[in-house]
Amino acid sequence: MELDARQRAMLEEMGIRVWMPLDTAPADDRAVSSSMPQEPSPGLRTGVAPSPAAADRPVRAPVPIAAAFSASPVALPRALPADIAAMDWDDLEAAVAGCQACGLCKSRKNTVFGVGHRQARWLIVGEAPGENEDLQGEPFVGQAGKLLDNMLMSLGRSRTADGEAQSVYVANVLKCRPPGNRNPAPEEVLQCEPYLRRQVALLQPRIILAMGRFAVQSLLQHSVPDVATLPLGRLRGQVHHYEGVPVVVSYHPAYLLRTPQDKAKAWEDLCLAQSLMADASAG
Ligand code: URA
Repeated sequence: MELDARQRAMLEEMGIRVWMPLDTAPADDRAVSSSMPQEPSPGLRTGVAPSPAAADRPVRAPVPIAAAFSASPVALPRALPADIAAMDWDDLEAAVAGCQACGLCKSRKNTVFGVGHRQARWLIVGEAPGENEDLQGEPFVGQAGKLLDNMLMSLGRSRTADGEAQSVYVANVLKCRPPGNRNPAPEEVLQCEPYLRRQVALLQPRIILAMGRFAVQSLLQHSVPDVATLPLGRLRGQVHHYEGVPVVVSYHPAYLLRTPQDKAKAWEDLCLAQSLMADASAG
């Protein structure tokens, strides 16, 4: 994947260093990672510079989930309620706006349904609305959202793009804000889960990026045994599936704001997702 000067500057601004081929890179850029999927064309490529030692590691190919975890039974997904399964986008958005399935409806100011092109190939899944999202009715509008937007923009994608190829759709596991930004409760996730599942069925994304623990647990609970007890880091770098759609696991943008040294890993995750898309288009 090639980056232009603006995209590169944006990554640098975010604290993510990209690498160039040895013959064009400045000297201090040379001891960097080769762990990203590589493409044959010359020029500026995407990569990250988390640690010099990474340069010696082989390219990490996605490994099938079955190879990474011993098989222990996972619960099958519940059937989607028939009324939700029959909804189109507008019906679904209206159903979410009027939802009273859990106590969050009492404290919310707005429901936060999702944003982006409704035929986008990428779906980004976060956790739950925070204060700003609750006020504005849109996911990821605070500082974490700004970081997410910048990272996506570095891949030439955005939630506001008109074209299917450049756009993304952004949604959360929960459509209402947990008061005081507390963690989502299991009952709330259970009640809200059919809405996200229907969004996926309507969108038919080619790739899902699950950002943070709650998105990962919610999306992979039926495919990854013991997902709730696994550190997120163990689930990265592999291709999982949700309803038949490939899922790439990454860190939550709010975590990345607190832990900037892991931004490079998140950029790796985005590059993995991008490379899967490239493979799918080629195949
Ligand atoms: N964090 C999330 O997971 N989603 C949002 O919409 C905002 C913050």
